[in-house]
Amino acid sequence: MISQQTIQQIQSRIDIIEIIGSFIKLKKRGTNYLGLCPFHNEKTPSFTVSPAKELYKCFGCGRSGNAISFLMESEKYSYVEALRWLAAKYNVDIEETAVSPEVKEQQQVAESLHIINGFAQKHFTKNLFDTEEGVTVALSYLKHRGFRQDIIEKFQLGYGLENRNDLSAVALANQFNPDLLVKSGLLVMRNDELTDNYRGRIIFPIHNNSGKVIGFGARIIRNNDRAPKYINTPENELYVKSKILYGTYFARQAIDKNDECLLVEGYTDVVSLHQAGVENVVASGGTSLTVDQLRIVKKYTNNLTIVYDGDSAGVKAALRGMDLALEEGLNVKLVLIPGNEDPDSYVNKVGATAFTQFVKENKKDFILFQLSVALKDAGDDTQRKSEVVNQIAETISRINKAEDFTKQQDYIRQCSQLLRIDENGLNTLVNKFIRERVGKNESRFASGREAPPDVLTDLQQDDNFNLLFRDEMHERAVVRALVEFGLKEWDENRTVADYLMEEMVDEDLFDNKQLLKVMHTYRAWYDAGMAPTSKTFLYTEDQQLSTLVVSIMEFPYELSEKWKTEFEMRVPTRDEVYREEVLATMNYLKLRKIKRLIDQNQEDLGKPHTSEEQLMLIQTHQHLKMMERELIRQAGTVILP
Ligand code: GTP
Ligand code: MN
Repeated sequence: MISQQTIQQIQSRIDIIEIIGSFIKLKKRGTNYLGLCPFHNEKTPSFTVSPAKELYKCFGCGRSGNAISFLMESEKYSYVEALRWLAAKYNVDIEETAVSPEVKEQQQVAESLHIINGFAQKHFTKNLFDTEEGVTVALSYLKHRGFRQDIIEKFQLGYGLENRNDLSAVALANQFNPDLLVKSGLLVMRNDELTDNYRGRIIFPIHNNSGKVIGFGARIIRNNDRAPKYINTPENELYVKSKILYGTYFARQAIDKNDECLLVEGYTDVVSLHQAGVENVVASGGTSLTVDQLRIVKKYTNNLTIVYDGDSAGVKAALRGMDLALEEGLNVKLVLIPGNEDPDSYVNKVGATAFTQFVKENKKDFILFQLSVALKDAGDDTQRKSEVVNQIAETISRINKAEDFTKQQDYIRQCSQLLRIDENGLNTLVNKFIRERVGKNESRFASGREAPPDVLTDLQQDDNFNLLFRDEMHERAVVRALVEFGLKEWDENRTVADYLMEEMVDEDLFDNKQLLKVMHTYRAWYDAGMAPTSKTFLYTEDQQLSTLVVSIMEFPYELSEKWKTEFEMRVPTRDEVYREEVLATMNYLKLRKIKRLIDQNQEDLGKPHTSEEQLMLIQTHQHLKMMERELIRQAGTVILP
C-alpha cells in the first residue's frame, strides 16, 4: 500500500495539463485547454481540460475525470499503477505503509523477477542481433518468415543460444539469486548445474500493462519431435497464466479505439497482425479462456472476435470457454481462417486490407455457430438433438437478461429457427435455466457468504431518486461545507470540521449512505492528521466517491439575492459567510430529523395507550416542538439555501 503522505505529495504535484498534454496535443482556449479526444475518433476537438478544476471532459463522448482517471482510462493502469507512474514522473519517493510479511515477501520476489526478466530479455535481444549464431540461425529465420526489423524490436524478440551455459554464466556472474533464476524458468537445474532452459529458441517476451517483462514464450527453431514446440515460463509470482493474454500491452489502445478485440491463438499471429497494422489483437495460447482473461478484454471493449484457423483444436477449446464470456456480457463473434492457414500465414499471404475485409465479412455469431456445429454432429439422432436443445438453452440463459433482454430474445428466435422447434418452447426452457441459477444465487446470499446487491445504488436508478433528491440537497450541502470549509476556524478551539464531526455523532441525520461515506472518509483522514480538501477526494482510489464529491462541489449554489435587495449591499461571497452556511445546513438536517420524530410521535399518540404512556408521549411532543422552534429561530438568522 502506498502511504497517504506519498499520495498527498503526488497530488500536490499533479499538473493535469502537463500530464494529459504528454499524451495528446492541447491548445489553450480561454481558461481551458482543448484537444482531440483520445477515447473516440474525432476530427474537431471536443476534449476539454480545465486546469482550475483539475478535470477533463469530452463533449463528444462524454468521458470525464481527473489526471489519475485519465491515466487509468487511456493507459489502462490500475489506480496504484497510475500513482507509481506519477511518482516516477515527479520524482516522488514512494513510501509504502506496513504490509504483512507474506505480502512483503511476495512483492520482493515479484520485484526481483521483474529485474531478472528485464536482464534476460536484453540478453536474448543481444544474442539475436549481435552474435553470429543469432544472426545466422534466428534473425534469418525471422526475416525469412517475413518479420520486419522494426516489429522484431517493438516486441523485443530475442534468441536463446544453443550453448547451455550462455545465460546462466552471465546471470550468476551478475549475482542473481539461483533460486529466483530457477523460479523465473530461465534456468533449470540439470546434473547439479544451473543450465539455460530456452536453447536454440526464438524468445517472445510477455509484457504486463506497464511494459515490464513478466515471462517468456520460447519457440524452437529446428523442428524436433522430442522437444515441445513452445516452452513457457512456469507459474510464479509474476507469471500467472490464467491472467495473461499475450499482446495486451501493445494492443490496448487499438482495442479501445476500435471497440473490438481480436483473439488469436499464437504469438506469431499477434506479431504478424501488428506488422500488417492490425493492432487490436491478443493471443490466448490456444487454451480456453479463463474468467480473468475475459475480464481483461471486458476492460477495453464488449466485442470479442475470435480469429482461429478452421481446423484447429483451439476452436473447440475456445468454444468451451465462451459461456463464461456471455456471463461477462461480451458479444462474441467467430471467424475461421480458410485452408490450412492461421492468421499469421493468412495475413502474410493476402495482405492487411484483404485480411481485415475477410474478418469483417466472415464474422459469425458465436452462439449460432456453436449450434450449427452441434447440430451437424448430432445428425439424425433424436436423443442427441434434444441434448443440443438443452445445451443451447443453457447457453442462452447465461446472457444477462436484465442488461440484454432483446439480445436474449433474438437468440431464442434465431436458434429455434435453426432447430426447427417452437420459439415459445425454447423460451420456456431458457427461463427454466435462469430460474435454476437465480435459485442458486439466492441461497448464496442467504448463507451470508456474499452480500446481496446494494439497495441504495439501485434506488438511485429509481424514480424515487428524484423525490429523494430535494431532501438530499441538504445532506449534500453539509458534505460540501465540510469539504470546502472544514479546515477553517469555527471558534477559538475548533475548526469547522471539529464542529461538524461533533454534530454528526447522530448518523441518522443522513439518509444517503454514500454521502455518509464521504463524511467518514473525511474523518478518517482528518483524524490521521491530514488536511483533506476536495483535491484529496478528487484523487482517491474509490472513483465513485471521487465522482460524487466532484458533483457536489460543482452543484450550482449561490447565496440568495435577497442580500442585495433587502440589505442593499453587495452579495457576500460564500467564503465570507461560511460559518452561517455551516450552521444553516447542519440545522436543516437536525430540523428534518426532528420533524420526522414529531411525525412518528404523533402516529404513536394515535394508538391506544395507558394514561402514563400518553403523558410521556405528550411531553416528548412538547420537547420536540421546543427544539424545532429553537432551530427555526436560529435558522431565521441565517439564509437557508
Ligand atoms: P508458428 O508455428 O511459429 O507460426 O507458431 P504458432 O503460434 O502459429 O503455433 P501454433 O499455431 O502451433 O500454436 C499456437 C499457440 O499455442 C502458440 O503460440 C503457443 O502459445 C501454443 N503452443 C503451441 N505449441 C505449444 C507447445 O508445444 N507447448 C506450449 N506450452 N504451448 C504451445
Ligand atoms: Mn503459425
